[in-house]
Amino acid sequence: APPDVLRATLLDWYDRHKRDLPWRAKAGLTADPYAVLVSEIMLQQTTVATVRPRFLRFMQRFPTLARLAEAPLEAVLHEWAGLGYYRRARGLHACARQVAAGHAGTLPADLQALQALPGLGPYTAAAIGAIAFGLAAVPVDGNVERVLARLVALASPLPPARRMIVELAAALARQERAGDFAQALMELGALICTPRTPSCLTCPWQVPCRGRASGRPVDFPQRSAR
Ligand code: ADE
Repeated sequence: APPDVLRATLLDWYDRHKRDLPWRAKAGLTADPYAVLVSEIMLQQTTVATVRPRFLRFMQRFPTLARLAEAPLEAVLHEWAGLGYYRRARGLHACARQVAAGHAGTLPADLQALQALPGLGPYTAAAIGAIAFGLAAVPVDGNVERVLARLVALASPLPPARRMIVELAAALARQERAGDFAQALMELGALICTPRTPSCLTCPWQVPCRGRASGRPVDFPQRSAR
């Protein structure tokens, strides 16, 4: 199916089924870039269910990037307690300090500049770029990898195939509703196109999906035999 048909069917499904998550933009409002930064760092190694209350608590404690930047590292680590992977908290704090000092206090609306910040990599930069700034980027995490590998029944195993998935994601990205599209792909991976028991019968991409057509969607993405 052409990219614009795939996008339209996915966005339509997302509008009807998306979860109400506290870091997402409310009707008519754009997402707060700082809130997107905090949520994406937390969501990297922690589930949505765990992140939800901890995100709200963190945002009460450090409501703005400026407040996070001026806080001592110990206070940030203390607030992070139980979330694990404390490198993330250190990176987030260093990122806030660098933005406060070097970018006039606002996160840059530019993928290269975002990626250059401490604690941010290609995934986080693309997520913030798309969700907070509407840049035509798609953050490719494990969920998105799986969804796209199944969509095209990607034959090659994952480590080398990752490049092709990133290129496919780039081909699907548009500025229009960029943040919704990025989160719709994540949502599809979390709610429908799950690792072991995908719900193909309720999937908005059931018709174009080559993985489903193969009869064995769970075989994708392929893993290299070792
Ligand atoms: N996982 C990573 N980022 C996410 C987001 N913005 N919404 C839901 N799940 C996610």
